[in-house]
Amino acid sequence: MSKRYKIAVIKGDGIGPEIIDEALKVVDAVAVNSDFELSYEEYLMGGNAYDITGDPLPEETIEGCRNADAILFGAIGGPKWDDLPRDKRPESGLLRLRSTLGLYANYRPVKVYNELVEASTLKSEVVKGVDLLVMRELTGGIYFGEPRANEEDRAYNTMLYTKAEVERIAHEAFKAAMKRKRRVCSVDKANVLEVSQFWRDTVIEVAKEYPDVVLEHMYIDNAAMQLVRDPKQFDVILTGNIFGDILSDEASMISGSIGLLPSASIGGEVGLYEPIHGSAPDIAGQGIANPIATISSASMMLRFAFGEEEAADKIDRAIEMVLRDGYRTKDISAYGAKEVCSTQEMGSIIAEIVSRA
Ligand code: IPM
Ligand code: MN
Repeated sequence: MSKRYKIAVIKGDGIGPEIIDEALKVVDAVAVNSDFELSYEEYLMGGNAYDITGDPLPEETIEGCRNADAILFGAIGGPKWDDLPRDKRPESGLLRLRSTLGLYANYRPVKVYNELVEASTLKSEVVKGVDLLVMRELTGGIYFGEPRANEEDRAYNTMLYTKAEVERIAHEAFKAAMKRKRRVCSVDKANVLEVSQFWRDTVIEVAKEYPDVVLEHMYIDNAAMQLVRDPKQFDVILTGNIFGDILSDEASMISGSIGLLPSASIGGEVGLYEPIHGSAPDIAGQGIANPIATISSASMMLRFAFGEEEAADKIDRAIEMVLRDGYRTKDISAYGAKEVCSTQEMGSIIAEIVSRA
């Protein structure tokens, strides 16, 4: 009997539906010549979920995700919902989903495609060959720390980490490094913050279990600078929630377009796979969004959630091939384009290559 994987699909807001449709096209194509079958169930989340149900993360969506083998997620948010109270905003739906499902480990790989080195705002020799992974802690730190408040004449949040929280994300980073270049750079602000000193001490302890991995520490301000000065010095960057949020946006620009980079959030009941870019409401519905980040996230899903390495490799190779052949969506059309294509065309071309592979 063939294997069956159940995917909870959350298209979300803005360009979410367009890019998810293309990712589904591609995974459907890869499933045809495989020994597994895929089934999808769609769930609401974000601004559209709020419009329909009054809640950016309806209970039904949580249930649906829990019952799935993986979650494929588009993007959420937009100016339409910016003025809502915090707990009704699309972003709070996403934060709640991460936390509810226990998705503490956020993989944000940054790989520069050779064909697109020119697309980066940094010099080609600086970015060519970059291959790093930001391992961001995703369910703790200042995003979730208590107490928190916005009062009349003051407001505060708390950056809090428990030992167990730091240990488990550190293990994740060291394990990932073992499959890569065996280097971990832990990023903190230990010269100022107690929580960072605690983070650093804990990471040093965990590192003893991974004698083959070289551990280094960097302050966040220096790391932000080093990332644009010489990104090739990094293999795995291990860091907390808010530092990882900032560094991963910065790192994404090394690759030339934020429309290229995937992510995986794992560690809990069921993993969530999403592009690192947002919902881009300004270009929604125009068919110009780059679906590659989402297609690449679907590949991570096949690899991480289902262990379907071969299928994931097929997708990764197809993405490299279309870029080599000069197909470009509008965001990267200034760099080596032989043919500028729409969101849908890009999805179809990748799907076709995958089905022939
Ligand atoms: C991200 C986003 C989210 C975050 C927002 C939308 C809550 O910026 O996934 O990086 O800050 O984590
Ligand atoms: Mn972010």
